Amino acid sequence: MRISDTADLWWKTAVIYCLDVETFLDWDGDGVGDFAGVTERIDYLADLGVTCLWLMPFYPTANRDDGYDISDFYGVDARLGTHGDVVELVRTARDRGIRVIVDLVVNHTSDKHPWFKAARSSTSSPYRDFYVWRAEPPDEDTSDEVVFPDEEDSIWELDERTGEYYLHRFYKHQPDLNVANPAVRDEIAKMMGFWLELGISGFRVDAVPFFLGLEGLTDAQVEDFADPHDYLAALRSFLGRRTGDGIMLGEVNLPYAEQKKFFGGRDGDELNMLFDFVGMQNMYLSLARQDARPLARALTRRPSVAPDAQWASFVRNHDELTLDKLTEKERGEVFEAFGPDPDMQLFGRGLRRRLPPMLDGDPRRIRMVYSLMFSLPGTPALFYGEEIGMGENLDVDGRLAVRTPMQWSGQRNGGFSTAAPSRLRRPVVTGAFGPDHVNVSDQRADPESMLNFMSLLIRRYRESPELGWSDFTLLEQPLRTVLAHECVWGDRRLVAVHNLSPDRCTVPLRLDGCDPGCRLVDLLQDGVSDLGPDGSVELAMEGYGYRWLRVVPAESRRLA
Ligand code: NOJ
Repeated sequence: MRISDTADLWWKTAVIYCLDVETFLDWDGDGVGDFAGVTERIDYLADLGVTCLWLMPFYPTANRDDGYDISDFYGVDARLGTHGDVVELVRTARDRGIRVIVDLVVNHTSDKHPWFKAARSSTSSPYRDFYVWRAEPPDEDTSDEVVFPDEEDSIWELDERTGEYYLHRFYKHQPDLNVANPAVRDEIAKMMGFWLELGISGFRVDAVPFFLGLEGLTDAQVEDFADPHDYLAALRSFLGRRTGDGIMLGEVNLPYAEQKKFFGGRDGDELNMLFDFVGMQNMYLSLARQDARPLARALTRRPSVAPDAQWASFVRNHDELTLDKLTEKERGEVFEAFGPDPDMQLFGRGLRRRLPPMLDGDPRRIRMVYSLMFSLPGTPALFYGEEIGMGENLDVDGRLAVRTPMQWSGQRNGGFSTAAPSRLRRPVVTGAFGPDHVNVSDQRADPESMLNFMSLLIRRYRESPELGWSDFTLLEQPLRTVLAHECVWGDRRLVAVHNLSPDRCTVPLRLDGCDPGCRLVDLLQDGVSDLGPDGSVELAMEGYGYRWLRVVPAESRRLA
């Protein structure tokens, strides 16, 4: 492997930053964030070290699922800007070395999409088969198959006009598209091609297993469609033909064995990247127990992937912190530790909180968690505001509690907008995590701030391609409270040690294959440790301490 490989497979060492245009920065003062605002802040993102911006849906929408209910796949929500504004953003980002990917939400449309309006107008509409219908009332109880059990109790909804039932995995106003229909597949490819032509570098693909699911299809339809994974491979190949290096980053919240199929076969010819939901959930269990073993076990079981493929690590995203892959007892432990109030919990499976309030604002512990996440083999993905330690606003409904306006300064509306607070799309956070205490402006001026810590982590991550390219290797040591692992790629080697408990400790490690004169250079704070002749070292760790140690052979010419 050569360092130049990292340029071809850029996503393996990218730093992804997800934002919603609507809540990032309102540049025209109407209370709603806009593309002009995001473009204004490209230099901020470049300075932070972000290399890939993921835009949440910005298309025309009925706005009953915060934009994930799209009514025109080709449009731009007029409140956010125009196609011209999208191109300005993509171009400015590219100039600063930042690629842009966009949400591809094709499991469903809004019920206000013209296709669905046509489809429900008559059973003989040419768009009827764009969706999945059944004539008979569902006799089975599907309440455990709905994704949003707060509002739905069936995945089938009666369409009064035509007297048939349509499939919806999410809300009933989000009818599922029939991907077995070749006309739908053609439309999806055409639409992807459109956005790619505007300069984007790929897609975050929403709800992939549902999108490819065969639920509700007739035998003939299933036969026609053949294998959904062949279709996913065909989409990837289309993306490759159109862009060369475009990516599909998939939302596939399934157990590891099932996730693996979505990377494709041995060549990794389907999704380039998958979010590591299982690792993330076990990380929270480990944090709750102050015991590294659940996370270590998960990462040891995590399938290794083809050289082109990659896991995306994350601490939080725009949805609830889902804990659905834990057992009920484990989930209960995490609830108890990080969200005991029922109002903090959602759908019986997750928490509608951001990390800092869950950790009572303890800066040592918060930093340790991000250090841990960045040190795991994979590509880190941040959700806007994590870099400054934003909290949630539990007064805002459901999942939207974590999608409050970005906090730029201590000014009115946290510097997000000059509009009257009553006109804001969503209220800002109040209290200890509100803009008076947590904002970009103040943190830029403070060398000890979370923002500067995050920049350092990102810089070190980008200087350490072994983190993106290697597999996970656990290092043996006697403490349950500590995770020690290493990432090795060619002659590059990084050891990461994280203490999940508040108590100081000393971690004995032994590193194989180190020649005499080999040193451990601390990448997050000053310091060098020498290794004993047998590769042994004793590392002093603070409570919630975190260390990234570059293994530097005596003759190394690498910058440490
Ligand atoms: C998954 C997205 O992350 C979520 O926010 C959305 O509500 C559903 N898919 C439906 O699109």
